[in-house]
Amino acid sequence: MQHGTPSPPTWADVTPRALFLSRRALLGGAAATLALAGTQARAGLTVRESPLSTDEEPNSLQDFSTYNNFYEFGTGKSDPQRHAHRLTTEPWSVMIDGLVERPREWSFDEITDGVTLEERIYRLRCVEAWSMVVPWVGFELGALLDRVGVLPEARYVAFETLYRPDEMPGQRTRVLDWPYREGLRLDEARHPLTILATGAYREPLLNQNGAPIRLVVPWKYGFKSIKSIVRITLTEDEPHTSWNMSAPQEYGFYANVNPDVDHPRWSQASERRVGAGLFAPRQPTLMFNGYGDQVAHLYEGMDLTELY
Ligand code: MTE
Repeated sequence: MQHGTPSPPTWADVTPRALFLSRRALLGGAAATLALAGTQARAGLTVRESPLSTDEEPNSLQDFSTYNNFYEFGTGKSDPQRHAHRLTTEPWSVMIDGLVERPREWSFDEITDGVTLEERIYRLRCVEAWSMVVPWVGFELGALLDRVGVLPEARYVAFETLYRPDEMPGQRTRVLDWPYREGLRLDEARHPLTILATGAYREPLLNQNGAPIRLVVPWKYGFKSIKSIVRITLTEDEPHTSWNMSAPQEYGFYANVNPDVDHPRWSQASERRVGAGLFAPRQPTLMFNGYGDQVAHLYEGMDLTELY
């Protein structure tokens, strides 16, 4: 937003970092629009907007940065915010190995230098039946896969989070088998909606949200969107994933959002939008989290009523 042809200001242009005002409220009045003009320089990362964004109103940065799941820092929703400052994210590198032409360690700068960052405003639906709308900043995972040279035998992509118990107190407990692991089928990984996020709210990611680089797969339950990634491995076989290993009867490998398949312990038919207020009604959960038009074809022939 800092360069190029003038475009209408958006809510992010006027952000005091911790307080995002509603876009609708801002764009509602000419006075508000005028007030925006002088503040554009305050916007953080320069990003390209995307037609793949939802026009639903994003949650506040406050919601996004204080209500988290990041079990490496504890199982409570406010544990990540309290403990994640201990995580050292510089220097950072990601090992990209397995079925690729040249397996090697990539520095964070190598991964991101010269990459055009896009804003992707996506719905995020946690398997626990809460949801948010998040303005991610990132780039398509497929573009990185093109750069690393995926070998023809590869069918899956496995991801791992950092294992560093001295900085991640949750890793000193056995709540999961560390490191946190996730995986995608290669066609899911190459889908244009699948991004690696390095920021949100037009700022670099906060540690509690998975700094410096995390996955975002908006049509799947949030646990697939693995944080603070240090390893990406191309494989021939379906990789083992943390929640599936921990409770296979509750969490599948695919984990596509599906209102018709209940979790064994709760309904997935509806969700609570974080920050909507105590008396706000729950909202219906949408098949593939509302991204069915774009992704349903990936699962043709699969029985979606099974726990996948
Ligand atoms: N990644 C790691 N490494 N550890 C985790 O505990 N939790 C997952 C996912 N990624 C998790 C993780 C879950 S359950 C959700 S809902 C999202 O992160 C939450 O992302 P957020 O806290 O940035 O909203």
